[in-house]
Amino acid sequence: MQATAIAQPNIALIKYWGKRDVDRNLPAAGSISITLSDLYTEVDVELDADLTGDSLLTNGIADQHRLARMSDCLDMVIGEQRLHARVTSISNFPIAAGLASSASVFAAATVAAAAAAGLSYNTQKLARLAGQASGSAARSLFAGFTELSNVADTISVKSLCDVLSWPLQVVVAITATTPKATGSSEAMEISRATSPFYDKWIEQQAQDLATARAAIERRDFASLATVAEHNCLKMHSVMWASRPPMVYWNAATLRCLQTVRKLQEAGHDVFFTIDAGPQVKAVCMPDHADAVREALSATPGVQEIMTSGLGPAARLVKNRGE
Ligand code: DP6
Repeated sequence: MQATAIAQPNIALIKYWGKRDVDRNLPAAGSISITLSDLYTEVDVELDADLTGDSLLTNGIADQHRLARMSDCLDMVIGEQRLHARVTSISNFPIAAGLASSASVFAAATVAAAAAAGLSYNTQKLARLAGQASGSAARSLFAGFTELSNVADTISVKSLCDVLSWPLQVVVAITATTPKATGSSEAMEISRATSPFYDKWIEQQAQDLATARAAIERRDFASLATVAEHNCLKMHSVMWASRPPMVYWNAATLRCLQTVRKLQEAGHDVFFTIDAGPQVKAVCMPDHADAVREALSATPGVQEIMTSGLGPAARLVKNRGE
């Protein structure tokens, strides 16, 4: 009973930061993201009656840190009476450093675990299960532009625009590769409990979602740029005003923002977004990707650049069944 799945991380343009229900991992508001093509995580799940416990190898190293969360994910997908599992996860980008690795890891793990156990769930069900493991993972079950809506007691995820209809590029400027000090789950609870801006942030999400949805529908880059940058800076303002403050940026993060501003002033179609980490993601029209890449590469403190188009949904690549 073994299966392998691949999932791409996704980058939120309208962010998820805050939970309505921690136990069920329900987000306090919706979010809109783009799934990437060139970054990926491959997860293999093998269920074995001879094992006495679960194990997790992340990029070849025993990963005690994430094992409990992975076991919880397998319990949710397969059920607590399941066989123990040998899980291996390989990503081609730094993990736990604000590059949305939990999204690709748990999206791939959900798809692989369901297949290994012989469960044929539809995409919506897989998205809900992945979202219980990590909110952003639900969005990696879909390709391209994806909206996660939060209605009543459940989430629903849908595609807003396919990859070919608006083939934007994303240039990722990596400014640090060490894992972040405070993980997103813990940090967003601190924000909810302590940030004076939290309620206002959640209250304004519906408006930002509507603006972004309309911009995507019209392929209106300027309008999407304005709302995405504003939404990102609002989320970081919520984080900065939390107690203790959560400042994920470093000096190079800010320099990258200045680089993006200069590119915009020079007429390039590009905007930035930043998640719970110091990396800057510059989203641009395809014709501008070379200039964006060059300018960010030359920005002091940038250690590595990755470029990606928009990519596919999480999918099964190998299923050796029972
Ligand atoms: C800043 O999905 O990692 O990337 O549900 O607690 O696992 P959990 O949180 P997670 O949070 C992602 C936060 C973000 C914004 C986003 O991706 O929408």
